[in-house]
Amino acid sequence: MDKFIIDGGNRLYGEVKMQSAKNTVLPLVAASVLTDEQVTIRSIPCINDVENMLRILSEVGCKIQRKTDCAVIDSSNAVSHEIPARLTKELRSSVFMLGSVLTRFHQAKISYPGGCDIGLRPIDLHLNGLKRLGVEIIEKDGYIHCVAEKLIGAEILLDFPSVGATENIILAAVKAQGITVIRNAAKEPEIVDLQNFLNAMGAKIKGAGGSTIVIEGVKRLHGVDYTPIGDRIEAGTYLIATASCGGEIQTEGVPPENIAALLHKLRENGCKIHTKNDKIILQSNGNLKSVDLVETMPFPGFPTDMQAQYATLCCTCKGTTLIVENLFETRYRYAAELKRMGADITVRDRAALIRGVEKLHGAQVTASDLRGGAALVVAALKAEGQSCVLDLSHVDRGYADFEGKLKKLGAKIRRVRI
Ligand code: EPZ
Repeated sequence: MDKFIIDGGNRLYGEVKMQSAKNTVLPLVAASVLTDEQVTIRSIPCINDVENMLRILSEVGCKIQRKTDCAVIDSSNAVSHEIPARLTKELRSSVFMLGSVLTRFHQAKISYPGGCDIGLRPIDLHLNGLKRLGVEIIEKDGYIHCVAEKLIGAEILLDFPSVGATENIILAAVKAQGITVIRNAAKEPEIVDLQNFLNAMGAKIKGAGGSTIVIEGVKRLHGVDYTPIGDRIEAGTYLIATASCGGEIQTEGVPPENIAALLHKLRENGCKIHTKNDKIILQSNGNLKSVDLVETMPFPGFPTDMQAQYATLCCTCKGTTLIVENLFETRYRYAAELKRMGADITVRDRAALIRGVEKLHGAQVTASDLRGGAALVVAALKAEGQSCVLDLSHVDRGYADFEGKLKKLGAKIRRVRI
């Protein structure tokens, strides 16, 4: 299990190019079983979640060529409709495979993806949507068995604009008979990217990015060579780190509209932000003022995946901030670790009250989930003195070359294998 040793206090300067978005690459990899022609996904990040999803594909019989910056997937020999249980435990997003494996094999078997570090993560919206498409679902002995002789288009209204449920339903409807309409769909940029990817394969989908998506089932899908959108959460993490530490960075590969809610808050904190196409330039003197309230919301609201990193920035702002986490039940596990660094943060259920302190001091802290781990790295970069961030398995799920990119920006950080 690796750890980071970080000497805090450096300002950050320079340019950083974003990896392809983890939360778009995962459904795209799942979608590649929808054709028996070759699928190439470019600038694919070297992160554990993606490696695990590729492993699932090879276990169902796909041939994967993993090159430095792309993956070439040939699903012509895909034979199994069973998604390996041990990999489902590793990777919750394997639930996206349900929709695409069902479309390919008209049956699918997956072990029930349990909760995870940030909450219960139910999949009722996924399963209810699949049932509307004619899928018979039997939940037995911890497994979900899905059978659908024929997938038939339907009207589906989501109780909540769930990202995963929207994606799974699209993957099950793309070759269904007739038209499927998803209402109250998630509007995240990753959904738009999935629509563009599938349409490039010959699908007929429109409306992604809005709350109503219309999918006209097609007979077959052909191969594609595709470059996914940049990772907006990765960009937000570097921008928050620079806002907090002070300095000036330019992120590349993420259009500002994909993280507009975060940029709005950072401007309120006193950062200067300019944007040009997919470049975002942020300048900060490191002495920020607090904003009163931040509530996480589905897109285009403030992203829950930026909540932990932004809370860390609030710890050394002048003033008090109330954060409300509306999407996940236990997304404040990093707070106790920040307190060890001198933060004044009180958590009650979904709310965290953060009173700004003069400074954070270095400490040994332990990550317990992906974005909470990134938040501890941001805190250590800002803190006075040396910190040690333990259990990097979490950040390695979603940040490619985290220490390399931070070092290039001037951070004093090194990875130690223990
Ligand atoms: C996706 O998770 C992302 N993961 C998450 O990013 C992100 O936090 C989340 O969307 C919200 O934006 C990937 O895309 C791989 P949801 P997902 O379904 O699809 C409830 C990260 O750090 N819900 O939109 O699981 C659920 O409990 C990860 O990169 C149901 O009740 O999120 C939650 O409260 C973490 N029933 C809310 O909806 C369901 O069937 C949002 O979940 C499904 C979800």
